[in-house]
Amino acid sequence: MEYIVVLPAAGSGKRMNAGHNKLFLTLRDKPILIHTLEVFEKDENCTGIWLAVKPEEREIIQDMLKQYHITKVKGLPAGGEERQHSVYACIQAAGNESELILVHDAARPFIEPSVIAQLTNAAQKNGAAIAGVKVKDTMKRVHNNVIEETVDREQLWMIQTPQAFQTSILINAQKQAAQDDFLGTDESMLVERLGIAVHVVESTYDNVKMTTREDLLIGDAILQKRQQEGM
Ligand code: CTP
Ligand code: MG
Repeated sequence: MEYIVVLPAAGSGKRMNAGHNKLFLTLRDKPILIHTLEVFEKDENCTGIWLAVKPEEREIIQDMLKQYHITKVKGLPAGGEERQHSVYACIQAAGNESELILVHDAARPFIEPSVIAQLTNAAQKNGAAIAGVKVKDTMKRVHNNVIEETVDREQLWMIQTPQAFQTSILINAQKQAAQDDFLGTDESMLVERLGIAVHVVESTYDNVKMTTREDLLIGDAILQKRQQEGM
């Protein structure tokens, strides 16, 4: 199933505390951003990549794309104040290029091709499908450090990206959110509020977002495991 992918990469990485965009930090000598891009560069169903960037970082990123032979990037629109604005900039730049569109955090370099394939199949069939994993811990609702209730874990999932959509659905959802000044933490929220059912595809616990320093250690361990397994 062919698709295009939007990768928001215009954040500042405050929680990583790197002093610059965390996506330039390296794992095994390669920038996190390149690890993520390589997944889509290699996936033959991916027909184009749109990367939201900070204007002042565009040139560094373009140099990086050359250095690592990333050829599928079709546009590097300026990102916005919030992640949602960065994604919107890419969607506007990409237009109706493809029937299916994926949104994926540039900060999640370990997404597996098999999960991407399941997501695109599910989105093609149902309109919208997002990646997630079941929670592992006991979950409780807490108010002012006092437990209000223990929540049934069976129904709780931790949601990740990629999030895959039929392009027209995501464009409509983004437009409606902009009109209503609604800010969501993922694309699914924008689609959910239109009353459209969003399917969840079980992903892997490897698909972590590089957010804080500890995540770099986890990332390094995942790469080591994959190297040993010959992946
Ligand atoms: N992102 C973006 N535009 C923004 C904010 C975030 O394109 N205005 C991107 C980030 O570059 C990242 C992804 O969205 O690839 C997920 O966001 P997050 O992990 O929160 O990254 P940052 O916003 O950079 O980090 P922090 O929140 O710690 O500052
Ligand atoms: Mg952020």
